Amino acid sequence: MTQDPTKQGHFQRGGAEYARYRPSYPPELVDALAALAPGCNLAVDVGCGSGQLSALLAERFERVVASDVSESQLANAIAHPRISYRHEAAEAIGIGAGEADLVVAAQAAHWFDLGAFYREVRRVAGEGGVVALISYGVPYLESPLNVWLQRFYWQELHPFWPPERYHVETGYNDLPFPFEPLEMPALFIRRSWNLHELTGYIRTWSASKRLLEQQREALLLDFEATLAEVWGTPAEQVPIVWPVSFRVGRVAK
Ligand SMILES: C[S@@+](CC[C@H](N)C(=O)[O-])C[C@H]1O[C@@H](n2cnc3c(N)ncnc32)[C@H](O)[C@@H]1O
Repeated sequence: MTQDPTKQGHFQRGGAEYARYRPSYPPELVDALAALAPGCNLAVDVGCGSGQLSALLAERFERVVASDVSESQLANAIAHPRISYRHEAAEAIGIGAGEADLVVAAQAAHWFDLGAFYREVRRVAGEGGVVALISYGVPYLESPLNVWLQRFYWQELHPFWPPERYHVETGYNDLPFPFEPLEMPALFIRRSWNLHELTGYIRTWSASKRLLEQQREALLLDFEATLAEVWGTPAEQVPIVWPVSFRVGRVAK
């Protein structure tokens, strides 16, 4: 594997927390992708993490090949009889030419060497095959508590994000995407979370991990203490929403 090891490092640990706290996707997302794909035989989910999207894809596709460079993520991945997990890079997909109906990367493409990944997409996609880059952006709370979350995200934590985060914040709009674009419906991830679920999720962010590495955990602890004060009862559930962004296209052969 040829990736920059500092990029891979963000996900080499913490697979269990990722599996526990990261949200999954709305089923309508997979419905829309399955409707665009030329068939539902094989979906390839690269940068699959702990299988958040792979498990949904397995409900619509006969076979899902899900791969990631992080063993920690794969060790915590959702098991499913139609998913085969592989430890490999998005830039070297271990399936034959023309086999895939759909190649998808969820919240992952901003880490890839896109030129090498797109070469692989063209190789593995079958006739009429579809490639989809999916990301979910900065969440907001449907509550006055949102002010605290946004202040922490944009003012305190922001300098600690790796530069690749820019592409998530801008909905992947500036990523090169040399494919015939396909329309997708507007989609949102919606959950209702208690205090523990929100703080657990925030600790899975690359920026939070960087705070810990730099012995700056106090910033995180201060925010968690403030949030606990304003939240009221910790078990109280607050609606949280992530807008989902896409670059979806048809792969020309
Ligand atoms: C933010 S996680 C997204 C995981 C999952 N797809 C999701 O939607 O929650 C990004 C994942 O991409 C993986 N990754 C980063 N660079 C990669 C590469 N070049 N090839 C394959 N996986 C990669 C990381 O190990 C990590 O598991």
